[in-house]
Amino acid sequence: MSAIPDVLELHVHRHLVSHIVVGRDAWDRFLQRLTAEPTPTAVVTHPSIVETFPDLAATVRRLPDVHLLTWPEGEATKSWDSLRDLLDELFRLGFRRDARLVAWGGGVLGDLVGLAAALYMRGIHLWHVPTTLTAQTDSAIGGKTAVDTPFGKNLVGTFYPAEFVWVDPHFLMTLPEVAFRDGMGEVIKYAFLIGEPFLSWLEASTADLQRRDPEALETMARTCAAYKVRVVQADEQDWGMRQWLNLGHTVGHALEAMADYRGLTHGEAVLWGLVAEGLVACRRVGLKTIYLDRLHRLIEAWGGLRPLPTWDETRFWQALELDKKQRHGTVGFRLPLLVEPGRVEVVEDVSLDLLRQALVEAGLITGR
Ligand code: GLY
Repeated sequence: MSAIPDVLELHVHRHLVSHIVVGRDAWDRFLQRLTAEPTPTAVVTHPSIVETFPDLAATVRRLPDVHLLTWPEGEATKSWDSLRDLLDELFRLGFRRDARLVAWGGGVLGDLVGLAAALYMRGIHLWHVPTTLTAQTDSAIGGKTAVDTPFGKNLVGTFYPAEFVWVDPHFLMTLPEVAFRDGMGEVIKYAFLIGEPFLSWLEASTADLQRRDPEALETMARTCAAYKVRVVQADEQDWGMRQWLNLGHTVGHALEAMADYRGLTHGEAVLWGLVAEGLVACRRVGLKTIYLDRLHRLIEAWGGLRPLPTWDETRFWQALELDKKQRHGTVGFRLPLLVEPGRVEVVEDVSLDLLRQALVEAGLITGR
């Protein structure tokens, strides 16, 4: 018998191609596929979506073996309790490993449903039908799933990409103004990540986007999705290039945690983060101030930044320590910084002093 080595290697992969379908026919294509590939399916959505799109909900309800489940809205729904309730519901429905979960809603719902799909019987089929700007351009793509814990947001989760993400810009046409503006925080981030010609296109398309021109919405969604696909393809597990997508989020997440997720939206927090981290970038990686000026002009075009609801410096720094990019035993903060539109560098050792100085200059620390 040949000797068996003492260290055996088992190469494991989840063989999956995640299809991101972007277009104004995406909902129809979703229904076609749902019908063509029947398997027990739960489409999880919110009561507000059923109210806004009663015909679509009725169509889903009529499909054989498809259950429409309505789930509460808001960040509080991304909890352990909610996850357990959803899993219990799938047991009650008698789902097996060939079942399918569909998240029809925004990013919060997508994170929760994605985690439930990853955990139920160690993984069932998952599709997303994102309805918000944030979910269409960012969170539904790339497989991040999560629930929040008392220690922070998104600290428990998996990478579990959906087999299909159906991005239909029609959903953006009826999105409430506050939610649309919130999503623009991420889109403005994407504009600086992607660089030209998207940055100039976004600047020139403000009016079209503000009147929700379908073609402009589709261009925006498709461009952001294509960029995200490229980044996740290069670094699915978020150890390198995917951290570029966190531009503005290190400060942004800490601001949200400091405010107990009340009184400012995620998009607003990201924009404050882009401004503060942009100032750090000017000092550490040579970002030209003309790009900060363009950032400010875009922010103004979308209504400007409201003052923070609260400022608690101790809580801010505590929250920053919990940022998932930070590593044990390092000095300073790890931050993706914009070098120029289209180019990011992850800097390992941004000092507290430099970050603090940027927060003062951005107007976040006012000496209160
Ligand atoms: N939203 C950032 C990411 O998916 O990595």
